[in-house]
Amino acid sequence: MGKRDRTLPRIAGSPRPALPAASSASTSATIAIYSVKGGVGKTTIAANLAWCAAELSGHSALLWDLDAAGGSGFLYGLEQCKSHAAGAIFSKDSAPDKLIHRTTFEGLDVLPADESIRTIDATLSAMRKRKRLARLADFLGQRYERIILDCPPVMNELSAQVVRAADLIIVPLPPSPLSTRALELVVREVADHTKRHPPILPVLSMLDMRRALHKQAREEHPAWPMVPYASVIEQCAVQQRPVGAIAPQSPSAQRFIGLWRAIEKKLEERQG
Ligand SMILES: Nc1ncnc2c1ncn2[C@@H]1O[C@H](COP(=O)(O)OP(=O)(O)OP(=O)(O)O)[C@@H](O)[C@H]1O
Ligand SMILES: [Mg+2]
Repeated sequence: MGKRDRTLPRIAGSPRPALPAASSASTSATIAIYSVKGGVGKTTIAANLAWCAAELSGHSALLWDLDAAGGSGFLYGLEQCKSHAAGAIFSKDSAPDKLIHRTTFEGLDVLPADESIRTIDATLSAMRKRKRLARLADFLGQRYERIILDCPPVMNELSAQVVRAADLIIVPLPPSPLSTRALELVVREVADHTKRHPPILPVLSMLDMRRALHKQAREEHPAWPMVPYASVIEQCAVQQRPVGAIAPQSPSAQRFIGLWRAIEKKLEERQG
């Protein structure tokens, strides 16, 4: 963390990007919420953790949506962007800060996705710059102490770049053999694409303790943080606010807080 080159690599012939305002933080961290499996709660967890980073830890936090579906922006009430600029920050030197939106929460901004993110895998492959996403994250890390990546469920050049950029990878796992397989694939993805060995933190997601398989998963992995299956969490998409703002005293809000603390602890260990 904080050890990588913090200059945004320039693409020949394109204008110099605006520099973000200096951050008061000495180090920033990039946290990827990633699984190769779809519908496991990545976007919901990413949006809630970004809120925890800003509201609980008082960090300047950026929620960066890397999925063309645009769920993270939606969860903060942003309209689906009609522009095709979100992908251009990868291929050109257009300044990412022009695309960043403020939320109603102090310190929490969102870099939403748009249609152009659909082709980002091909763009990154064609560019042959293996650390383009990492460099962009470093650049944004001058302003933001915590960058939360909401990732699509893919295994391609984008996910390879995600694991190279991340200081920590959160893998949401609803209890199921398919989720376990997805975790194994993420572990392999990390081993194949980076020597930095970012820690992987599995999170039992959508846990329903009335179900035998879920109970068993909890017993097998008591140390893994968990996020329950809860209607208040579903409400995030209805009210377009995080659980901490909808129902701060709820057990679900407390679970996200617990998960956030586990993340901060892992980041401290990595720094130390
Ligand atoms: N803990 C939870 N309890 C109840 N509903 C949840 C929970 N987590 C997510 N959901 C709901 O499950 C659905 C899928 O969640 P989400 O979009 O966060 O998953 P995802 O992994 O980002 O999906 P995708 O792979 O399509 O991007 C959404 O409707 C969301 O509201
Ligand atoms: Mg998603």
